[in-house]
Amino acid sequence: MKILKIVLILLAVAFIGAQFFRPPKNEGGDSHSGFLAKFAVPADVEDILRTSCFDCHSNTTRYPWYAEIQPAGWFLNQHIVDAKRHLNFSQFDKYRVRLQHHKLEEIVDQVEAGEMPLPSYTLLHWDAKLSAGKRERLIAWVNAQRKALEEIYPDSLGL
Ligand code: HEC
Repeated sequence: MKILKIVLILLAVAFIGAQFFRPPKNEGGDSHSGFLAKFAVPADVEDILRTSCFDCHSNTTRYPWYAEIQPAGWFLNQHIVDAKRHLNFSQFDKYRVRLQHHKLEEIVDQVEAGEMPLPSYTLLHWDAKLSAGKRERLIAWVNAQRKALEEIYPDSLGL
């Protein structure tokens, strides 16, 4: 019994201690201008991106209340850092054309395969789950942007 008590106290101390170590917030605040400025994004597509992708793949995350509780905050932060390294919509206009073209292709692949948005995210953010209609809309629109890039920059894309 005594050991159990000590273990519980240690766990409580570790939990309280962890609250003092907060990851930095992803609140760059450039309001996703990169992607939205580069491609004239129609309102319904922008809505899909904001609701389902930008929390991880942009410089501005809308944090849920449990982000204030560690280790949940650390877990979220890890996802955001990882996601932004792969694809950051806020920086999209800074990518070279070839990379933009490639990232658009990856977006289609990931969404088609149902890999994105991450299931661990839609588990709690129901509204972020893509209906079949939204998925098709996003894929069709992104594919059209790829085509447009191919027409505008055939040399950069080696076409
Ligand atoms: C909860 C956070 C989260 C959300 C929301 C999210 N992603 Fe991701 N995404 C990630 C992480 C983390 C990775 C890194 C690779 C992995 O774990 O699969 C990633 C990887 C990707 C990649 C692969 C890039 C590469 O270089 O291979 C693409 C494309 C992508 N996401 C697109 C999207 C799109 C489009 C949406 C919205 C429909 C979205 N993601 C929503 C977290 C997220």
